[in-house]
Amino acid sequence: MIPDDVVEEVRARADIVGVIGEFVQLKKAGREFRGLSPFKKEKTPSFYVIPAKAFFHDFSSGESGDVFSFLMKHQGMSFVDAVKYVGARSGVDVREVRRGRGREDPWRPYYEASAHANAFFRERLWEWEGGGAARAYLEGRGIGREAGERFGLGFAPDDWGAFREAASVHGLDQEILLELGLLKKSEKGGEPYDAFRNRIVFPIESVSGRVLAFGGRLLGKEGKGSPKYLNSPESPIFHKGEVLYGLGWARNHIRRDASVMVVEGFMDVVSLAAVDVRNVVAPLGTSLTEAHARLLKRYTTQVHLLFDSDPAGQRATFKAADTLLEQGLHPAVVTLPDGEDPDSVARSGGADAIRGFVSQAVDVMDRKVAMLEELGYFESNLKKIRARDKLLVTLRAARDPSLRDIYVARVAELTGVRRETLLEQIGTSSIRPPRRSSAAATPTGPLPRFRGLGEETGLLRLLVNNREWIEKAAERIGPSDLEDGVNRVIFEALIASPDLVSLPEATMPEAVQRFEELRAHPESLADPARVFDDTVAKIEGNRISRRLDALEVEIRRSGTGELRRLIRDKEELMKERQALPVDWRRSGRVLSNLGRKRQGGEDRK
Ligand code: UTP
Ligand code: MN
Repeated sequence: MIPDDVVEEVRARADIVGVIGEFVQLKKAGREFRGLSPFKKEKTPSFYVIPAKAFFHDFSSGESGDVFSFLMKHQGMSFVDAVKYVGARSGVDVREVRRGRGREDPWRPYYEASAHANAFFRERLWEWEGGGAARAYLEGRGIGREAGERFGLGFAPDDWGAFREAASVHGLDQEILLELGLLKKSEKGGEPYDAFRNRIVFPIESVSGRVLAFGGRLLGKEGKGSPKYLNSPESPIFHKGEVLYGLGWARNHIRRDASVMVVEGFMDVVSLAAVDVRNVVAPLGTSLTEAHARLLKRYTTQVHLLFDSDPAGQRATFKAADTLLEQGLHPAVVTLPDGEDPDSVARSGGADAIRGFVSQAVDVMDRKVAMLEELGYFESNLKKIRARDKLLVTLRAARDPSLRDIYVARVAELTGVRRETLLEQIGTSSIRPPRRSSAAATPTGPLPRFRGLGEETGLLRLLVNNREWIEKAAERIGPSDLEDGVNRVIFEALIASPDLVSLPEATMPEAVQRFEELRAHPESLADPARVFDDTVAKIEGNRISRRLDALEVEIRRSGTGELRRLIRDKEELMKERQALPVDWRRSGRVLSNLGRKRQGGEDRK
């Protein structure tokens, strides 16, 4: 068996176009790649690889899935071999953990103890009478049961031994609980005591959803020996420099929004989620590390930093920004009003207020320059030199060559130092090329079920007669999201050349004819924006539904190792579909019933 997080890492880093491209000749079509079906003989290519979603779809055979399923289906590999094969090509060290007796995952008892502690805290919060004050506290901070349960929040009672006793009844190993920092040894000897007391407990999970550690927010006033927040210490399963709070929940939203917000604390993540802003993560009371930056880069390059605006917060912001730039990411700084944090903004102004501030985000270089200007750094030559020194740090950090060029030009202009001189001072030679960004990894992909041809034609009619919408449409859907082959050909042609008057000669005759028909119906739409939103949302929803169908098939065929991963993917897709502004109740019913039966044994929330 390969541990879940390793599988997830391999999948996230895999270059799906490269891997599949070894077996199928692929050609770029917008943001997708297209080729002849490797599963069924055909003349017109209808096999698609969608790197942004990390899945492939073959319209002629109906096969679809992620990079692993491709290798399993096309090369007849086992799941484990497929993961190893892709791992070897993506620089991920794939070690198998043997399930045999005596050779189990050595950390398994640690994960089990953490999961048990999590269940204990949750029960204390939601079911226990004594949890009333904690529930009221959360309610008062705008966190209802739904949001609270989504993040697995719990409550550690104001008691020195409640958890210890529950754990001992359960037969958990005390040494392990001590190592995990859930229990502490008292100085005078005697029984160890509960580390988390009278706190709201936030479980800290790995991307694949395993509980690794906890953060606890004190109810009531902080004081000596009882800080406001308490985090689990480093342990065999928890390395805080490598974990971002909330990433497992946020990752699909990060991909979809093509950006991530980095905030300071647990409360910020949870409160933003409570107002439906979900592409949010937080480091765990530390500064942002290189490992954090690399984690984020699996999902997006656009990072919005929402730290405190006090001097300490600004220092943290610039430091984080440099770390992000070094990994080739694009940090932008969001400035909140004095004394506010994302949590307080979300509570007073909701999602709109947050999005408003985020839309005013300023590139980190501009923010740094503005700060130096405020401090009068460009008023004298001597000060300009010092400003240059401060800016050089950021210039050096910028690994993306285009971004660096822009920065250099800006600093040259501001300080009057020539570009050549600046480049020399940066020491261009030390700059490594940016690492290749890895493909994103939600498997999604359709089976030919012929849902929703109405919306496809509706959208194409809109696009053919209102070309300014083409680019927007292409940002959200690709040719492979359309079920009808003729529609796909037309959409692809429009993406390639939006001003197209007629389809190229060699195109299939059905497409040429349909294109003419679409053009012949330029009925002016009363509300094109509305039609656009509706049809695109439906097509996105169809894509998700088809991927869910395919997952069902995979779930039925899969072995136990993969099952958890597939079910998780499924849950995420169902949530994603739920979030679309379309009524899915009818189309989704059969599927969710099936899902419920299969998930009976799953214990995740
Ligand atoms: P803040 O003090 O800004 O708290 O610390 P907050 O997030 O606004 O929390 P509330 O709104 O008072 O509940 C920001 C982050 O710094 C870390 C925590 O991760 C916290 O979320 N921190 C803070 C600690 O680790 N220990 C502390 O004692 C305080
Ligand atoms: Mn706060």
